[in-house]
Amino acid sequence: MAKGLFLSIEGIDGSGKSTQLAHLTKRLERESISYLLNCEPGGSQVGNLIRKILLDPENPVFPTAELLLYFANRAQNVDEQICPALEAGRLVISDRYTDSTLAYQGHARSLGQSLVNQLHQIACRGTEPTLTLYLRIRPEVSASRLSHQKKDRLESEGAAFHHRVFEAYEALAEANPQRIVTIDGERSEAVIAADIWSIVMERWNQRDS
Ligand code: ADP
Ligand code: TYD
Repeated sequence: MAKGLFLSIEGIDGSGKSTQLAHLTKRLERESISYLLNCEPGGSQVGNLIRKILLDPENPVFPTAELLLYFANRAQNVDEQICPALEAGRLVISDRYTDSTLAYQGHARSLGQSLVNQLHQIACRGTEPTLTLYLRIRPEVSASRLSHQKKDRLESEGAAFHHRVFEAYEALAEANPQRIVTIDGERSEAVIAADIWSIVMERWNQRDS
């Protein structure tokens, strides 16, 4: 059986991940390519319960508990959703994965990259994306895109927090050029969608070689 392909999409809040995933999945359906879309937080029955705890602005979640909840969600999804789909040769697309935890909890919450990496080993046990699409927009563009939307617990953090998340993504992209492809997310939706399609198809067609 053909091998599956695991890819993730990352970026600060409002960078256009949901918008681009709608374009990508619509096109995959048209081309009859079987995929699993894994959204974190969320992505499974247990994940959706954890998502509610994490994102409700009324919940006073402390940073260490927050970190463990994101990983509890991921561990569940790896076992229940991601590994079976990859074993079945499918394309798995994760809307956020451990890079998000490195950026938000590791850097912006100052819990440290090494703690996040240790938990990643426990929760994911080697299940890694081979390709990560980093939708790059500046924090001020994100703030203006999201200014009229209702904000969840993480989105309600101040500008300094979101700037730290952005800094972390920039550093991750620089440190992992083989895996992370930076995509200029400040262009038009259609231009970005065309770029993403060609990158994903190139990797999909190469997956057995
Ligand atoms: P994310 O899932 O990364 O938080 P969304 O896809 O929800 O981001 O997009 C956040 C907001 O920005 C939405 O209002 C969306 O319509 C808008 N948006 C998405 N892509 C673009 C783009 N390329 N240019 C301008 N606005 C965009
Ligand atoms: P998400 O639903 O992807 O929000 P958005 O579509 O606005 O990007 O994610 C919800 C929030 O959770 C988002 O602010 C990023 C945050 N998050 C972390 O802090 N750590 C993590 O490990 C993940 C997966 C998400």
